[in-house]
Amino acid sequence: MQLDTRTLNQQRQRVGDDESVWLFGYGSLIWKADFPYLERRRAFIRGWERRFWQGSHDHRGTPEAPGRVVTLIASPGTVCHGMAYRITGETLKPLDIREKNGYLRELTTLTFDDGSQDEGLVYLATEENPAYLGDAPLDAIAAHIDRAHGPSGANREYLLNLAGALRKLGIDDPHTFALADRVKGQDAIN
Ligand code: SIN
Repeated sequence: MQLDTRTLNQQRQRVGDDESVWLFGYGSLIWKADFPYLERRRAFIRGWERRFWQGSHDHRGTPEAPGRVVTLIASPGTVCHGMAYRITGETLKPLDIREKNGYLRELTTLTFDDGSQDEGLVYLATEENPAYLGDAPLDAIAAHIDRAHGPSGANREYLLNLAGALRKLGIDDPHTFALADRVKGQDAIN
């Protein structure tokens, strides 16, 4: 099932077209930054871990056969590394469309690589959203990703692009890397 969060997000934090705000990216927003930004900085947020537990009915799958993309799960004591972008309210609007399938904007504290901090937004898809798929054995998640396909392309491309971008940034992510290894492994078999 899907939930279109566009309107909800615009009611959550109002950002004027010319105002700027930090946005923390941890998934496709790391490797597909095809939007204008004023500044981009490595950053992390505390208490969250990346997981391929969110369904994608509109990008990497279809309503009948959703793909799997990342969301964050609460994980006290850990940090999630990613990329922060300072963007205008004008840029946030198309991103609300891109992230409309269950992601709600949350306000969080970003820590940059020099240790400085600022408030920013993050798109979070919680287990309450109808597109949430949740946990499954890694082999099952990998097989699911390997077969899913949607209007934005193959689900495996999303996974491998994210794994590649994280490796390039020197970010260790055992969950993403284990899935990428399994999907690559299936390549060798097919
Ligand atoms: C993000 O990248 O921060 C949100 C999830 C996604 O678009 O993959």
